[in-house]
Amino acid sequence: MKIVNYGSLNIDFVYAVDHIVLPGETIQSAGLEVYCGGKGLNQSVALARAGAAVSHAGMTGADGGMLLELLRENGVDISHVRTVPTRTGNAVIQVDATGQNSIVLFGGANMENSEAFVDATLACFEPGDLLLLQNEINLNGYIIERAAEKGLKIVLNPSPFNDALGGCDLSRVSLFIMNEVEGEQITGKSEPSAILQSMRTMYPGASVVLTLGERGAAYCGDEGEFFHAAYAVEAVDTTGAGDTFTGYFLAAVMEGQGVEQALRLASLASSLAVSRSGAAPSIPLRREVDEALRAL
Ligand code: RIB
Repeated sequence: MKIVNYGSLNIDFVYAVDHIVLPGETIQSAGLEVYCGGKGLNQSVALARAGAAVSHAGMTGADGGMLLELLRENGVDISHVRTVPTRTGNAVIQVDATGQNSIVLFGGANMENSEAFVDATLACFEPGDLLLLQNEINLNGYIIERAAEKGLKIVLNPSPFNDALGGCDLSRVSLFIMNEVEGEQITGKSEPSAILQSMRTMYPGASVVLTLGERGAAYCGDEGEFFHAAYAVEAVDTTGAGDTFTGYFLAAVMEGQGVEQALRLASLASSLAVSRSGAAPSIPLRREVDEALRAL
């Protein structure tokens, strides 16, 4: 089984701030770091660092060299990434003193996917292969439709959720991996158990992983319902923690691990990511996660 992650590639401009800027307020930042990011890229790096063979598909601009380099260094197949004459997507990220963040996205090249390129990419994958998607690129509706027709198994991290994604045929999705905000946007419910129940009613063919930040992660699917508490760590920067969770959870499932083991590995990996700065740079290597597992 192969996995293709069709997703965003961003340059992250990360500002260290005392507090997230308020409407109408101007504040000084204590520092600026430029990192590789984008939910798509982060999830491909997490899959690769967890040990999965992953292909990344998407678009970058001529200024996206460092993103391609990082994917290559991590062993991600980038033969389905194209460079277009538009600047690379970017994110302006504020990280406050408690490690919380606030993100403004500029889509750039991420919005330049064409139907012809989607078709050419999906032609390289077989029924039963996995397709991972987030919501930072254009044409998600088309990608879902074509991938479902081809018999690919679709995993959706509906982040950030918006009306355009809500208008796609999400009944084609086999696995949702999402947080409470996205869960509430999709179901209108705010309690984790109500979100999971509604998701199963709305999408009976899909399993759902609901991440709950420092409260852990819950799963509801044909195998049953599972919960895993989060590992306590001092948060330095939460950016990319959800992406780390997604990559590690999927890698574990692809290895044939059960849901409980996959939740444990993903929770531990994301706790390590939270204790470090940046999105992609904070994603731990499998060796580090395995060491942390042994030390539990
Ligand atoms: O999930 C974190 C990511 O969200 C950042 O890397 C940023 O690029 C935004 O896409």
